[in-house]
Amino acid sequence: MPDRASVVLDPRFTVAPVDRRVFGSFVEHMGRSVYTGIYEPDHATADEAGFRGDVKELVRELGPTVLRYPGGNFVSSYRWEDGVGPVDERPVRLDLAWRSLESNAVGINEFCAWARELEVEPMMAVNLGTRGVQEAVDLLEYSNHPGGTALSDLRVSHGVKDPHGIRLWCLGNEQDGPWQIGQKTAEEYGRLAAETGKAMRLVDPEIELVAVGSSNSQMPTFASWEATVLEHTYAQVDYISLHAYYEQVEDDLGTFLATAVDMDRFIDAVVATADHVGAKLRDRKKLKLSFDEWNVWYQKRFVGQANLDWQENRHLIEDSYDVADAVVVGSYLISLLNHADRVTVACQAQLVNVIAPILTEPGGRAWRQTIFHPFAQAARSARGTVLRTTTTSPTYPTESYGQVPLLHATATHDEETGEVVVLAVNRGQEDVLELEVDVRAFGGTAGMVVVEHSVLADDDIRARNTADDPDRVTPRRGSGARVEDGRARLALPPVSWNVLRLRPAPA
Ligand code: AHR
Repeated sequence: MPDRASVVLDPRFTVAPVDRRVFGSFVEHMGRSVYTGIYEPDHATADEAGFRGDVKELVRELGPTVLRYPGGNFVSSYRWEDGVGPVDERPVRLDLAWRSLESNAVGINEFCAWARELEVEPMMAVNLGTRGVQEAVDLLEYSNHPGGTALSDLRVSHGVKDPHGIRLWCLGNEQDGPWQIGQKTAEEYGRLAAETGKAMRLVDPEIELVAVGSSNSQMPTFASWEATVLEHTYAQVDYISLHAYYEQVEDDLGTFLATAVDMDRFIDAVVATADHVGAKLRDRKKLKLSFDEWNVWYQKRFVGQANLDWQENRHLIEDSYDVADAVVVGSYLISLLNHADRVTVACQAQLVNVIAPILTEPGGRAWRQTIFHPFAQAARSARGTVLRTTTTSPTYPTESYGQVPLLHATATHDEETGEVVVLAVNRGQEDVLELEVDVRAFGGTAGMVVVEHSVLADDDIRARNTADDPDRVTPRRGSGARVEDGRARLALPPVSWNVLRLRPAPA
């Protein structure tokens, strides 16, 4: 007997509009993310600026809306001035975060031009590890001020006449982490972030600022870090950041498939903490959340920074992802969308080569990892408003989270086209999950019809894509999805990611 689950949808019951910024990604100067990743002047497909054309095409297809840059841990000892001006005069520096040699061939101007060409919004991080208010303000003036000042004219002299107009700014990165260059206590960081934010807003009042939250929810100072930082910064910032990476531990696939439960709890805890501070400060503003690093990352396989020797463009945490990883990534996207009322920026970490949906060979091929597909499909199809999904589902026992529903789902409604999209994961490992989606409240008298049911699943959940077999794992068309009496019925294979698109039937 197949398991059965159901979802009831109604356009009157909503979470919030889909903020397209939740489909962000991340480019850090780390490993081969930039060099031989997005940028490789000698590559056969390189454009005049040295960026790989094959990678640009894949990024376009992936569809990120925001790109966080230049780190990550890298930013905490970065001097932005090293990356501007004539390339042959730029210094080679030791990157202390990843024990790499940084050529600075790519800097803010090259990155922003590349991102704008791809119609992606840059999200810039400032160094609050080894630097402070002045350097952040200088970078903002260089980037966003139109002209007529020393730093804006310097930009113009570097060939960039128009200001970059960068709206989103991260006030540092993971400043609570012992691994961070310039780690700080919550008090130290909170004061510095507040003063930096205040000064940056004087340069450009249009910017949006992200205060650094805990590096992850397992940090010993988690929640008290957020509370202290926000007591200092609440009036200055728009967002608090969250970072989370998950991996399968030993052979416990059931827990791994349920890790979005932890993501949900993490988001809820940060919302509660932010709202507590807001209440204490009598500030009625609702802080937003920027989940600006999330992904599957097999951290247990990483040797650690301390064990690396100084190198340029080394292969660093180039995790290869399988079908189960892709399903779990789909689940994280579902969690983010279900929190659309508070999480309005999110960045999968990272974009190319470093724990990334896109892999490249230096001088060679580029291809889509399994995790490319759920991101691309969600970014393409989830539009309009996130609906409140009322679900019923059988549960299964997990080691870490107790009983967890087999079904994990979200739904969006595009008021313009009338399209309803359901993104759904079956966490069950054995059986098909028969799903019924009640859409009687949509489509007028003619009701709804199925436009598409796409499935990512495989008999071998360890299957992955390689340079030689780049399409071993791709979404395929599901069979049998139909709408009857205002209810869509479809079958979700075990360990699967599914996209169901419904439209009003022609009258
Ligand atoms: O994304 C890789 C690293 O993970 C980032 O540099 C850092 O912010 C996080 O710890």
